[in-house]
Amino acid sequence: QAEDGIRDHCVTGVQTCALPISMEAFLSIRTHFAAAHRLAREELSQSENEAIYGKCARVHGHGHNYLLEVTVRGPIDGRTGMVCDLAALQHVVQELVVEPMDHTFLNKDIAYFASCVPTAENIALHIADLLQGPIAAIGARLHKVRLQESPNNAAEVFAETPQLGMVPTALEALATP
Ligand code: NI
Repeated sequence: QAEDGIRDHCVTGVQTCALPISMEAFLSIRTHFAAAHRLAREELSQSENEAIYGKCARVHGHGHNYLLEVTVRGPIDGRTGMVCDLAALQHVVQELVVEPMDHTFLNKDIAYFASCVPTAENIALHIADLLQGPIAAIGARLHKVRLQESPNNAAEVFAETPQLGMVPTALEALATP
C-alpha cells in the first residue's frame, strides 16, 4: 500500500522522477593544494614591484594553502540524476591542477607563470583554461573557478561567456572563429 503511494507520487506529483530534459543544475567540487609564489614583474625594479605587490614581491617568495572550488553546469541526466560523473570531474581537477601544482614554486615550476604573475586571479584564470576542454569532454560546462588564497582573499573566474566578460584568453580564441 505504501509502495503504491510512493509510485503515485512519482507519476502524478512534482515529477521528481521524470525531470524535464532542460532541467539544469550547478555542481561544485572542492579540493586544495599548497604552493609558493612571488608577485613581481621582471621588467620592474624591486622597489617598483613592492609598490604594486607589497610583501608579496619579496625575493624568495612565500606559500599559500589554496582552496579550489570548481563549478560546472549542465542538464541533470535523467538516468543518473547527475550533471556529470562526479568521480570523473574530481579526476580531471586532480590530474590537471592539483597534481602538477601541489608543492611547487609556481613561478619556476609551472611554465605558464614564468611570464604571467601568479596572482590568485591569474592562477584561477589559468585553471579555467586548463579545465574548460576536459570538462566539456565529460559532458558538462565549466561555469566558475573560485580560488581562495588566504582567509582574506579569493579570486573568481566565470568561464561561460554569457555570465561575465571575464573569459580566459583561450576561450576567447575558441569563440571567435
Ligand atoms: Ni601570496
